[in-house]
Parts: sequence; structure tokens; C-alpha cells
Amino acid sequence: PAVEFGLDASFSVEYHDALPSTNDRARELAATGERDVAVLADRQTGGRGRRGREWSSPSGGVWMSLVLRPNVPPARASLLTLAAAVAVTDAAREAGVDAAIKWPNDVIVPRDDSAESSQGDTPSRGGDKLAGVLTEMEGEASEVSWVVVGMGVNVNVDPSDLAGESTSVRAEAGDVERRVFVQRVLERFDALRDDPDATLDAWRGHAATLGERVRVETQHGDLVGTAVDVTAHGALVLDTDDGEEVVHTGECQHLRPV
Ligand code: BTN
Repeated sequence: PAVEFGLDASFSVEYHDALPSTNDRARELAATGERDVAVLADRQTGGRGRRGREWSSPSGGVWMSLVLRPNVPPARASLLTLAAAVAVTDAAREAGVDAAIKWPNDVIVPRDDSAESSQGDTPSRGGDKLAGVLTEMEGEASEVSWVVVGMGVNVNVDPSDLAGESTSVRAEAGDVERRVFVQRVLERFDALRDDPDATLDAWRGHAATLGERVRVETQHGDLVGTAVDVTAHGALVLDTDDGEEVVHTGECQHLRPV
């Protein structure tokens, strides 16, 4: 199947016309000891998003999950989520889309709402969702045994076939060859995956969230503050009225500009 997709990357590719979820297939492969496999499906019938949400996955998108065995502790493995967001953002920019990262793992096309703001106050960089990343892992506190990084990118699809405030490469810049898009994502991800510093630098450079005043909903309540940085493990640093607060990726239920 790798040949069918015509890719030249450090991942072997398993391509399917349809799967319930590429993350589920990748988890199966991970459990049998596989590594460095990219599972792709033209469409998913049970695509999953974060927090148990559904992920619309019509034919034409890039629905892909990577099977990885990075030999690192779980906190460090979280950086792979950021690397995936950077890789997708770069591929989208190359396709002509004005993409940026919304912490922790959303790739959005920022919309400047200032025109609608009657007070003319600071523009809020909300945006429409282009892609999301769903990372799942298993293992010990000292070292993960495997990580599955699932990326869902709305490529050659109509936003009307997607949920919520979504956009697509088609809507922003026109259709692209998916094989080329996937190749770019894999190359960029491959260059970053063993390089936390480069990942964090690139992530900071692509972030729509940094410098923004945001509200983060967590299971312990809401936090409001200015997003000032990400930590070495990808957690968000907020400057709040009560001082600095750090929000870990797993704690965030929702983040929006205020
Ligand atoms: C999010 O909620 O933003 C994450 C969405 C992740 C969707 C991708 S599509 C490929 C992989 N398979 C899934 O079922 N989910 C991920």
C-alpha cells in the first residue's frame, strides 16, 4: 500500500479507503510492536476528536495516524503533539493557507474579529479550525511503550461537510494533491520528532495563542490570563491576576480568546 500512495519518507504507509478510525488501527499496530507506520484512510466512519468528540472525516481529507516508539517519558512524548501541529501548519502554509496554531493542538485560520468589535478594542484572534491532533500513548511513567499521533486535516473537503466552525485547504486556497501534502507533513515531523528545542521554537513561531488574553476551561475551573509561553513539555504559561499559572495539555477542556 505504501507504493500505492507513492510516498518517500521514513514511515511505511498503510492506506485504507475507509476505516472507523486511523488512531484505532494505529493502536492495533502499536500493540503488535510496529513502529514508524503512517496509517491513512480516505475517510473515517468513526473519527475521534479530543474529549470524546466526534471528528467529521469525509473523503478528501488527510486522516492519518503515526505509530511511534520514542523511548521517552510521557511528558516528553507530549511534545510530539506540538511537532505534529507544526508539521501540519507548515504543510498548510506551503499550500497557501494562512494557518496558525491554537494551543495545544489545533491548527486554525485566524480571523481578526476586530471589525465586529464595537469598542475597537484589542482584536481577538479566534479562528476556524483547519486541523486537530489526537495523541494517545501507553506505557510507564519512566518511558512510554508507544505513542499514536493522529492528525486530522481538512484538505480537499467542503466546510459544510464538517462540524462547527471549520475551514479547509480547499476553502482557503483550493485543492492540493494529498500525496504531496502528506509527504510534507511527514518530512517536517521527521525533522522535529527528536528535537525538542526546534519543536518548541517552531511552535512558538506559529502560535496564534501567545500574547493573547485567553480563557482556559479546566476541570478545576476557569483561568483567565495572557498566554505568555509554553514550557519545555508543551504546557501553557498564563499570566493571571493571581500570578503565573501553568496549564498542562491534558487539563484544557476549551480555550478561547477573551
Ligand atoms: C481534535 O479534537 O482536535 C483532534 C482531532 C483528531 C482527528 C484525527 S483524524 C486521524 C485520527 N483518527 C481519529 O479518529 N482521530 C484522529
